[in-house]
Amino acid sequence: MARKLMVELFAGTHAMADAFARLGWDTFTVDNDPDLEGIDLCVDICDLMPSDLPQNASYIHASPPCELWSYASGAKAPFAARNLNDSAYTEKRQQAALPIKAALRIILAQNELDHWTLENPAHGALQESRLMAGYPHVTIPYCQYGSPYQKRSIFWGKFPILWLPRTVCHHMGHPNMKESFHSRELTALERAAIPRELCDEIAQCAEDSAGRTSWTPLERWS
Ligand SMILES: C[S@@+](CC[C@H](N)C(=O)[O-])C[C@H]1O[C@@H](n2cnc3c(N)ncnc32)[C@H](O)[C@@H]1O
Repeated sequence: MARKLMVELFAGTHAMADAFARLGWDTFTVDNDPDLEGIDLCVDICDLMPSDLPQNASYIHASPPCELWSYASGAKAPFAARNLNDSAYTEKRQQAALPIKAALRIILAQNELDHWTLENPAHGALQESRLMAGYPHVTIPYCQYGSPYQKRSIFWGKFPILWLPRTVCHHMGHPNMKESFHSRELTALERAAIPRELCDEIAQCAEDSAGRTSWTPLERWS
């Protein structure tokens, strides 16, 4: 039987692709940083054509950059309420949208795709954007997958039907991720990394959900 293919866009440390590779899938990784290791195609996603990718992907994951969407920069955040009518931030808001639009264009052009996920931190404006409106989504505290930090991230997409993400945090407290980042205990990529346990769970569920219907048409219930 042919091996299944997983594509990771904005791959960074390609944590998600590695999880699928551990299950024996072929993987294809894309990032625009030439200094990263293990990237199959180094390109700006805005220049990536659907035909530049293998056409038989069963799963695509994308973790687009979050800096411009994030509220972490406070008063300087392009999507902070106080800046929404300020034309000085218009260009940054448009810049933030470009990689998201490009990723969705790539994802929706893949014919054989069973599942896809697009991830961005919960402390950001992407969840309020029309770009992601209408796609199923779930908010996941990374502490439920072995991270010492609570960091909550949102996953949108067409999820494996057997995936039951752990969405409830049971901890009384967590170390402050922002402090660890500013004291340089964490790099930007480490801060953005998806916990290995979560990557493995998603990959396993994608594998186990193959061939099962992901959607229940509404008319079934009427
Ligand atoms: C949030 S990090 C992804 C982290 C990844 N999920 C991981 O586990 O390591 C975003 C990645 O997108 C890449 N990136 C940013 N802008 C890009 C663009 N326009 N085209 C392609 N890759 C881009 C960055 O180099 C970075 O590796």
